[in-house]
Amino acid sequence: MAAGGANAARHVAIIMDGNGRWAKKRALPRALGHKRGVEAVRTLVRSLEDTEIECLTLYAFSSENWKRPEDEVDDLMNLMRSFIKSDLPEFIENGVRLEIVGDWQALAPDIVEMLEDALHRTAGGKRTVAVALNYGSQQEIARAAQLAANEGPVTVDAIERHLHTVDLPPLDLLIRTSGEVRLSNFLLWQAAYAEMLFLDVLWPDFTPDHLKDALARFASRERRYGGR
Ligand code: IPE
Ligand code: IPE
Ligand code: MG
Repeated sequence: MAAGGANAARHVAIIMDGNGRWAKKRALPRALGHKRGVEAVRTLVRSLEDTEIECLTLYAFSSENWKRPEDEVDDLMNLMRSFIKSDLPEFIENGVRLEIVGDWQALAPDIVEMLEDALHRTAGGKRTVAVALNYGSQQEIARAAQLAANEGPVTVDAIERHLHTVDLPPLDLLIRTSGEVRLSNFLLWQAAYAEMLFLDVLWPDFTPDHLKDALARFASRERRYGGR
């Protein structure tokens, strides 16, 4: 168990960026970059038991990623299918509870069915891995505001009750790999007081040691929430 105590991050989210550049640097097809990206996810999820993280949220496919060429979108969807098939037993065995955030019901029917089954079979897990699929934060906030308005006054609490992340702990730390310094429509509301780290490493090269280093950096930060 990593040191951290009161300064341990409960909820960490990662914008897993840089698969394409990882492949390009090696003159490999982009699809291989995405494949190696999935391997980095697998290794990272296995390493969670050495941390105090209760929830890891991973940005896997944004609502804007549909703009990519059809063959790349197909590759990403096929990776999703094979990842669920290959890794679901391990999730169950290791007590990992799967959550999905985003408009995932709009994905291909066979993926929706696989995800429903995976959600059901991992429901008893103690540690959460939330995967953001067909996720866009602006869309999430607009939907939550509309649902809140249908019920009564549109307050901060009322909006939060309708966000996809309602069952997750408050976001502590947001990491983006690949050197880009932007949020790309990810957890805009939830990041209000999250600490942020923008790392130069490309996602397929991200290891559990990078996460441990990020957690140590998080633990040394002073969070103020507007106070003093
Ligand atoms: C992240 O890697 C994976 C997804 C967005 C699905 P990219 O494919 O965005 O890789 P770069 O940013 O082009 O290097
Ligand atoms: C954000 O990365 C989405 C995911 C990592 C899934 P993008 O590569 O899509 O973001 P932009 O286009 O560089 O902002
Ligand atoms: Mg990218």
